[in-house]
Amino acid sequence: MLKLVLPSPQYTESVKAAVEEYKAHPSPFDIHAIRKLIEFADSNFEGYFEYVENQRTGINLIPGHVPSTSLWLVDDGNYIGSFDIRHKLTPQLEKSGAHIGYQIIPSRRRKGFVKAGLKLALSYVREVLKLERALLTCEEENIGSYLAMTSVMREYGGEEIEPAVTDGHKECRVWIETVPDKKKSACI
Ligand SMILES: CC(C)(COP(=O)(O)OP(=O)(O)OC[C@H]1O[C@@H](n2cnc3c(N)ncnc32)[C@H](O)[C@@H]1OP(=O)(O)O)[C@@H](O)C(=O)NCCC(=O)NCCS
Repeated sequence: MLKLVLPSPQYTESVKAAVEEYKAHPSPFDIHAIRKLIEFADSNFEGYFEYVENQRTGINLIPGHVPSTSLWLVDDGNYIGSFDIRHKLTPQLEKSGAHIGYQIIPSRRRKGFVKAGLKLALSYVREVLKLERALLTCEEENIGSYLAMTSVMREYGGEEIEPAVTDGHKECRVWIETVPDKKKSACI
């Protein structure tokens, strides 16, 4: 069964295998959360759990950063990818990064996992952060990410807003409702 979980040592074996995959197949779109995971896996994997818990509860944050929750997408106990959820937006996150960042291990891409994981992440945003919509961004060259976020936006409801230009890159931006349209109409 596919689920999003808080990072836990019980997944160490498959996460360490995933880290090797990430290192072997870097992409220009690799997210900060994966760079941190790799950094800890290479030096002090036990310390990673304290790091993500501190990020979640807002301890020892870099000035200007907001609390964020790292979640692992697991399928039958095997790590598939990471979702990083920022608890609120800053002017910088509104341009790039937004509420939800994600990355799927290279061997499990093009199988629908990011779309499935994004729907679970939207439930988290709704239930834990109590937000009715989430902002997502991606560089315009990141076709896979753009197709994933706009596909879920069409299904759940939301809107694409004007791109932001950051460091010479154009960032596409979409707001997505955290409750699917279908469920909303079912409640009426
Ligand atoms: C972008 C990424 C998360 C996509 O994950 P994924 O699990 O392969 O995506 P999915 O299988 O759910 O596919 C989503 C859609 O994008 C399409 N797609 C995925 N990768 C694609 C690619 N490289 N080129 C073209 N289309 C692609 C799929 O066909 C699908 O289209 P559909 O909605 O019309 O069916 C993954 O490639 C990745 O981890 N990349 C590196 C990190 C990254 O880019 N993170 C996002 C930063 S904004």
